[in-house]
Amino acid sequence: MGRSLLIARIGELVTNAPAADGAGPGPGPFAVINDAALVIDGDRVAWTGPSSRAPAADELVDAAGRAVLPGFVDSHAHLVFAGERSAEFAARMAGLPYAAGGIRSTVAATRAATDAELRGGLRRLAREMLGQGTTTFECKSGYGLTVVDESRSVVLAAEITDEVTYLGAHVVPAEFDGDAGAYVDLVCGPMLEACAPHARWVDVFCERGAFSADEARAVLTAGRAHGLIPRIHAGQLGPGPGVRLAVELGAASADHCTFLTDADVDALAAVAPSPSSAGTVATLLPGAEFGTRQPYPDARRLLDAGVTVALASDCNPGSSYTSSMPFCIALAVRDMHMTTSEAVWAATAGGARALRRADIGYLAAGAKADLIMLDAPSHAYLAYRPGVPLIHAVYRSGVAQL
Ligand code: NIG
Ligand code: FE
Repeated sequence: MGRSLLIARIGELVTNAPAADGAGPGPGPFAVINDAALVIDGDRVAWTGPSSRAPAADELVDAAGRAVLPGFVDSHAHLVFAGERSAEFAARMAGLPYAAGGIRSTVAATRAATDAELRGGLRRLAREMLGQGTTTFECKSGYGLTVVDESRSVVLAAEITDEVTYLGAHVVPAEFDGDAGAYVDLVCGPMLEACAPHARWVDVFCERGAFSADEARAVLTAGRAHGLIPRIHAGQLGPGPGVRLAVELGAASADHCTFLTDADVDALAAVAPSPSSAGTVATLLPGAEFGTRQPYPDARRLLDAGVTVALASDCNPGSSYTSSMPFCIALAVRDMHMTTSEAVWAATAGGARALRRADIGYLAAGAKADLIMLDAPSHAYLAYRPGVPLIHAVYRSGVAQL
């Protein structure tokens, strides 16, 4: 037993607690306790319930009516890069479209950067995320695109998170123009060998201008043979085969899902995570639609069909240079017609499902003590007061961070 900490007088405690009937490990549906308390013991939550029944603990924190939520789980971020693309953003806002090719300019800057520069950028973004309530984040490679630059990307990412994704198949780099097949062979061969020991996930950008269904299948299958679990960028810039491939391969998540057919929606609904199967989550990234001025994904269509939805930042220097989960929640509520509770669930429990984590995304006895306290009485303020710094405190593994 570690030292125990009682957080008392919580105005609204968002628990996402698992159902008591043994519906399986990990978070349950959105749920709150009003006038609540929570006890942390060491790095775990030990107790939650009404303030009036709170047990004694070694230390006391008075929440004074504030809301407490699970820390945000940002299940999609590209943080290992150098340089920036503000001119490209400005040009888009003046009317130019987003194109996958912009990735190549970040690749050039990343290859030219030292390890120390990349590490500095990563740590800055990780700090930024923590200050906005993100307690777990995924981090992709994908701006190196050589064996050396991809493997140093996953090694650097592994310094700051357990959720490392190998994205050697982000785009075909310029030196392989006209010979995408040879690049896919590299991604499935020596590059994968070098990266797999440092990663948990394998991802591919399956899109016109990036990788075809057959190329994406080859990359994800090779990754799986090396113990990596697939996730996939699908339907970001137009309809395509990505979602069907995600379902076919049992990917943990199909990400973006901006352009979907009815068959895609049905397929995702059929593989929503359940107690008996890890399933496939649809991860929506509204920061990317904001940053590219594309239409937002149709979250209502997915939710109403029974698809499990996660929200994530897609933090990257091209399409979505935000690290803010509160901003994504506000966009999802205002512009994607998610309710405040659906959006907060998607940014916490949904992210946990997308990362197949049973220890985060909820607050109940046994969960990791990753939580945030808002300078506000309810979770709704995250969308009701957009752009306002509402994070009053962050605890990760039971330790106050700010
Ligand atoms: O998720 N879609 C591919 N990758 C990123 C964009 C990367 C970039 O433009 O640098 C995304 O939006
Ligand atoms: Fe992405």
